[in-house]
Amino acid sequence: MSNMGIEFKNVEKSFFRDDGSEQVILDKVNFKIPAGKTTVVAGGSGQGKSVTLKLILGLMRADGGQIFVGGNDITMARGRTLKELRTKFGVLFQGSALFDSMTVFENVALPLRERTKKTDNEIKTQVLASLDQLELLGHENKFPAQLSGGMRKRVGLARALQLEPEIMLFDEPTAGLDPVMTLEIYQLFAQLQEQVGYTSIIVSHDIPKVFNLADQVMYLNHGSMDVFPSPDAMQWSQKPHIREFVKTTMGEIYQSHLVEQ
Ligand SMILES: Nc1ncnc2c1ncn2[C@@H]1O[C@H](COP(=O)(O)OP(=O)(O)OP(=O)(O)O)[C@@H](O)[C@H]1O
Ligand SMILES: [Mg+2]
Repeated sequence: MSNMGIEFKNVEKSFFRDDGSEQVILDKVNFKIPAGKTTVVAGGSGQGKSVTLKLILGLMRADGGQIFVGGNDITMARGRTLKELRTKFGVLFQGSALFDSMTVFENVALPLRERTKKTDNEIKTQVLASLDQLELLGHENKFPAQLSGGMRKRVGLARALQLEPEIMLFDEPTAGLDPVMTLEIYQLFAQLQEQVGYTSIIVSHDIPKVFNLADQVMYLNHGSMDVFPSPDAMQWSQKPHIREFVKTTMGEIYQSHLVEQ
């Protein structure tokens, strides 16, 4: 199991709007993402969920505070150290980001060709085994345009898994998928997480579906991050914006005893 957790200590991040006013995304935020577990990040559109992932990856820099990945302070990391740290991550972004001119096989093989010294034969064996695991065998010579949305996600997932990541980041991994496929993707995540044991961070709007896999839930709103040790704990929160979120995503029934007070 991965022993790489993540910690934010007093992390600050702001942007400036076109009119020059400041937009605070993270206002001295503190949280821990436990190693080998699944953390779901929720919050309204534009609140900064994707920015938070970019900070974790070192693709964006915090204005203040510290971010630790596996105990290393990445806010101090530069160049090579940062590159080295990034090899620990598998990332699945919204559009799957496959290369349209490459086949399924070539897309999945890419990280192995670029980052390892494996032979063609070793690569072939590994890639075909992954495609088999993700039920993509028989489609290896197709191009992304010839795949369904769910298949594309699975190809993106296969590619993200090739370098045996310690941490997997998923940014709205089921966007554009139908409800059945969404469930299937989440079942696959649960299964893979159990097998590989990586630390998993999932940004998602699929509430409550994604809660089946969540160990910890975080909710980002107006610069502050609320952390709940379980989806259940979130349901009993007294904070107005959390209650509103729970009501609209999970139905009033969960908090009916609170509403009556
Ligand atoms: N490079 C940037 N420069 C300026 N503003 C930015 C930059 N990146 C993001 N933002 C702003 O930060 C805010 C948060 O963006 P982010 O993409 O993290 O939102 P999000 O929570 O992922 O939303 P969604 O659910 O719609 O994906 C947005 O208002 C966005 O305009
Ligand atoms: Mg986003």
